[in-house]
Amino acid sequence: MSKGTYYITTPIYYPSDKLHIGHTYCTVATDALARYRRMQGYDVMFLTGTDEHGQKIEDKAAEAGVTPKEFVDHIVEGERGVKDLWKLMNISNDRFIRTTDDYHVEAIQKIFRALYDNGDIYKGTYKGKYCKPCESFWTESQLVDGKCPDCGREVQDAEEEAYFFRLSKYADKVRDLLENTDFLEPRSRVNEMVNNFIKPGLEDLCVSRTTFTWGIPVDFDPGHVVYVWVDALSNYITALGYGNDKYHDYDKFWPADVHIVGKEIVRFHSIIWPAMLMSLGLPLPKKVFGHGWLMLDGGKMSKSKGNVVDPYILAEKYGVDALRFFLMRTFPFGSDGNFSNELLIQTINTDLANDLGNLVSRTVSMVIKYFGGTLPAEREEVPAEDAELVGLASGLRAVYEDAMDRFMPQNALAEAFKVISRANKYIDETAPWALAKDESKKARLASVLYNLLESVRIAASLLVPFMPESCEKIRSQIGAKAEEFGWEAAGRYGVLPADVTVVKGEIIFPRLDLKKELEALENL
Ligand code: ME8
Ligand code: MG
Repeated sequence: MSKGTYYITTPIYYPSDKLHIGHTYCTVATDALARYRRMQGYDVMFLTGTDEHGQKIEDKAAEAGVTPKEFVDHIVEGERGVKDLWKLMNISNDRFIRTTDDYHVEAIQKIFRALYDNGDIYKGTYKGKYCKPCESFWTESQLVDGKCPDCGREVQDAEEEAYFFRLSKYADKVRDLLENTDFLEPRSRVNEMVNNFIKPGLEDLCVSRTTFTWGIPVDFDPGHVVYVWVDALSNYITALGYGNDKYHDYDKFWPADVHIVGKEIVRFHSIIWPAMLMSLGLPLPKKVFGHGWLMLDGGKMSKSKGNVVDPYILAEKYGVDALRFFLMRTFPFGSDGNFSNELLIQTINTDLANDLGNLVSRTVSMVIKYFGGTLPAEREEVPAEDAELVGLASGLRAVYEDAMDRFMPQNALAEAFKVISRANKYIDETAPWALAKDESKKARLASVLYNLLESVRIAASLLVPFMPESCEKIRSQIGAKAEEFGWEAAGRYGVLPADVTVVKGEIIFPRLDLKKELEALENL
């Protein structure tokens, strides 16, 4: 039975260059949240895609000596491009939008015209600063010491005919939305938006350009192309079929349950996007969540800086699931976090190889060694020894759900690992190898191993959204059936049959040699 619909999105990426681990972080997080909702029984729409217009792409294509479309095609569809990366990372998006897709282009032209027809877009003059050598327009505030932020040369006053969107008209409504609802999270981002952008006064937004051509033409004034953010933000509805006949899911999925976005684009999603939707008379998304950045040596990892970490290399070396897990386990989603190779290797060793991997392989090996792989039905519980582990495992789904619902995947994982650590400690406390030597302790030994299998089952089934393939291996090793490994079963203790049969399998998370791996990564 479906619990209802759930529409979740990631930002659509600029294919100006190959994606790095920072982009991977955002998409993996969204993927884990989408898989979590599917596991709960929601009818999920998970959208991602690429944002392909704008001057930056036009410039890059010119440098490369190809057309802008050829340029983006290569990065989006080509080998080791955006689509390949999401496939490698096991991203379960239901749809992929490219803003160069015909249906999107058509819908944007309709949206622009609708905003114009209702009086919220008007023609005016864009006054700014112009850097001739760079052929770039800048606003006063973008200048660095009054000079071009790109080349450092003198700029001159310039004017350009342009269309404007009446953003100012929506300032009060947007402020109310931000301050008096849970629209934007984490809460700290609300103050940032209100203090930095709304209080100083929202100006009307320039929404067309005439100095370059790589964009969606304004159909009633073809010298103009639509501002790339108007084009990009609208993807969230055009991909459902708004303004086009390619898809027919708008009524089913809009308004979105959440837009997951990085903190530097919260402004576009929490001010401009709601104002556009208000103007179009459309419902607003229920939530925008602004996550932090992955940093490298204290600075934002970014394509333009070149200090990027290649997700292909890391996933191929350490496994997709280990990389997905590391990203979600290590960094609190709402804040910035410092990436390092050392942290990656250590997290894999500590949590995956030592804690989870060992727990699974010790438990399965003991069932095989002491009972030939199938537990006997006799039991002997010792509440003083069992209660804490059984209590933690039984309560895991509730605390995990609470964390996931608050967009804190890191906390959800921490809760699962409390159960895993407790289970490892329980092995030491109950010493199954000693019980195995005493014929009269067989029933006790069976109980201990059953409690371990149940703890593994509950924890690992809740890790599925983060590590789908590895958890599937765990499922088969502990002898759980698919229906014993889903959301419903994760909320109950004692689901595995008393006479469960385990299956010996490969080591799921091999231990890494920290020193050797660090050297190998440095020398790439
Ligand atoms: O902003 N850490 O595209 P984009 C965490 N096209 N997240 C990071 C990151 C890092 N080091 N670097 C980038 C755009 N990101 C627009 C979006 S949506 C209608 C249009 C995140 O390719 C960044 O915060 O520059 C953003 O959310 C996403 O990657 C896409 O960045
Ligand atoms: Mg960016």
